[in-house]
Amino acid sequence: MKYVKMYKTKFDLLEFISKLPKAELHLHLEGTLEPEMMLEKAKKNGVKLPYNSIEDVKKAYRFKDLQSFLDLYYLGVSSLVDEDDFFDLAYAYFKKASSQNVKRAEVFFDPQAHTRRGIDFSTVIKGIYKAAKKAEDELNVSVGIIMSFLRDMPESSAEETLEQALQYRKWIIGVGLDSKELGNPPSKFERVFKRAREEGFIAVAHAGEEGPAEYVWEAIKLLKVSRIDHGYHILDDPTLTEKVSQEKIPLTTCPLSALKLNHITPLDKFPIKTMLKLGMIPTVNSDDPAYFGGYLNENYYQIAKVLKLSASDLATLAKYSIMASYIQYDKKVDLFNIVDETYCEIF
Ligand code: HPA
Ligand code: ZN
Repeated sequence: MKYVKMYKTKFDLLEFISKLPKAELHLHLEGTLEPEMMLEKAKKNGVKLPYNSIEDVKKAYRFKDLQSFLDLYYLGVSSLVDEDDFFDLAYAYFKKASSQNVKRAEVFFDPQAHTRRGIDFSTVIKGIYKAAKKAEDELNVSVGIIMSFLRDMPESSAEETLEQALQYRKWIIGVGLDSKELGNPPSKFERVFKRAREEGFIAVAHAGEEGPAEYVWEAIKLLKVSRIDHGYHILDDPTLTEKVSQEKIPLTTCPLSALKLNHITPLDKFPIKTMLKLGMIPTVNSDDPAYFGGYLNENYYQIAKVLKLSASDLATLAKYSIMASYIQYDKKVDLFNIVDETYCEIF
């Protein structure tokens, strides 16, 4: 009888990652603004930026910490003015996501980064929603839109934003919390999150990115979030680590973001293997890919390479992203099956 070769010993890492169906659960649409589009929109809208060329913009992308990134991020968004700008921004991202086999994208936008400079909430959400609808119809990417409150603004501003969002209730699945974390604990937003949950929004929050484990406790207990964005500092607190793994609260970690903002360097210190071993539900995400040097597949690839993740680890991470998303159960099962098929193909 002929010998049948059952196992391939090698697989092409990037090809395998690309083939896995994945959910992106931590992505700021404004963080997908590529330098080319930023300069083009600034010119069209007559917005002055301190850059003369794409090289100038790229040169500026060296960040000391979260705040030094946020300063450039808010400067960049000032180039976006009308509904078409928001459509173009979001649709360019959905095209990229589709090309990377992202089957579900739960994307943040920051309404206050626009309303505070005189742009209507409706202009922003209409552009984003049109792009999301087109992506669902034409690109086979399912989309959930999450509006994030800027935590370095007062709670009253978040409350006004929630009020503006109510007429677009059907277009937005949830509320989040982002921007400067240190000094702006989740407790500052307890009331607005309560109101948002009562209105039927799901709740997530950035916590434990630069802030302490205590902020993650607050996000869970006071904001009643169902996912934690980043969450690295959970590991500083054994009781919290135990709680997050017992209750299977998913974490949307972002390897290249943590590296570029100097939260975790070098990348081989990124704690995703530890999280997996502890029974937590970490997911891989890209955060602000235009600023941090990579979209979703590059994040999987970089982390897989430095941590020597196995094909099985990668399939688990893809499954966790699907499991932690807010799509319907039967769609999760369909995508799980495709992950398994993709995994079987390499043997
Ligand atoms: N952290 C906090 N706020 C943000 C981020 C981030 O990584 N990206 C955009 N706003
Ligand atoms: Zn983020």
